[in-house]
Amino acid sequence: MRREIITTSDGSHSLHIPELGEQYHSVHGAVQESRHVFLKHGLNHLLVRCNSSDKRILEVGFGTGLNAFLTALAIQEQESHVPVFSYDALETFPIGKETIDRLNYAEMVTGEKDHCLWSAIHRAAWDQPVSILPHLTLCKQLKKLEDLDADGLYDLIYFDAFAPTVQPELWTPAILRYMYEVLNPEGILVTYCAKGQVRRDLQAAGFNVERLEGPPGKKHMTRAVKQSAGKNAPV
Ligand SMILES: C[S@@+](CC[C@H](N)C(=O)[O-])C[C@H]1O[C@@H](n2cnc3c(N)ncnc32)[C@H](O)[C@@H]1O
Repeated sequence: MRREIITTSDGSHSLHIPELGEQYHSVHGAVQESRHVFLKHGLNHLLVRCNSSDKRILEVGFGTGLNAFLTALAIQEQESHVPVFSYDALETFPIGKETIDRLNYAEMVTGEKDHCLWSAIHRAAWDQPVSILPHLTLCKQLKKLEDLDADGLYDLIYFDAFAPTVQPELWTPAILRYMYEVLNPEGILVTYCAKGQVRRDLQAAGFNVERLEGPPGKKHMTRAVKQSAGKNAPV
């Protein structure tokens, strides 16, 4: 599948797939979107509520590694105050080094083109846990979401699959129910998608669903929180 680098409205790159007519990020700003949806309403929401025990993040669609990079920077910034994180990222079509090297995220966000965290994330071997920071272990997995057989529960899911119109098989009620099952009580799923049917399916899976203001250029996004045992649990 051919992927072309494009520049989004905040100056950050994204990838466009002509065959699917789809982008990896919002054309209104890739970095803005990632910060707003996944960091502000996902990671930060988890951090303000969480106790000090270890935390696990699952990312559906590692892609360019932008979400992983911004997460690693946030953890590094507050390292002595945050729990120890493990970050599992699923991907089926890894991006080649040539393309990764041309993406402008590290330079745009940190001023350093070869920022050590960007390099560490992309150097990390697939399918094995790699320590990126004292408080962060990354495991990039060459695996389809449909084949995920989670070996434990997560606290936060970055649900960053291509849109339901492009990849409906990743947004089925059964997949969303499985996302509910693999979260700890009070676990959080965030996604840029605010489609009514997706929100209803998340609700049916047992989540408490919030429609939040979207990143610049997008009206809404979704955050779904797993109810504590007993409350609203699916029958
Ligand atoms: C919207 S992009 C993700 C963007 C990414 N989070 C980033 O920060 O660049 C969706 C990603 O999901 C991957 N993908 C496609 N089918 C998948 C599947 N069945 N399971 C897991 N990932 C898949 C695509 O290859 C693509 O990299």
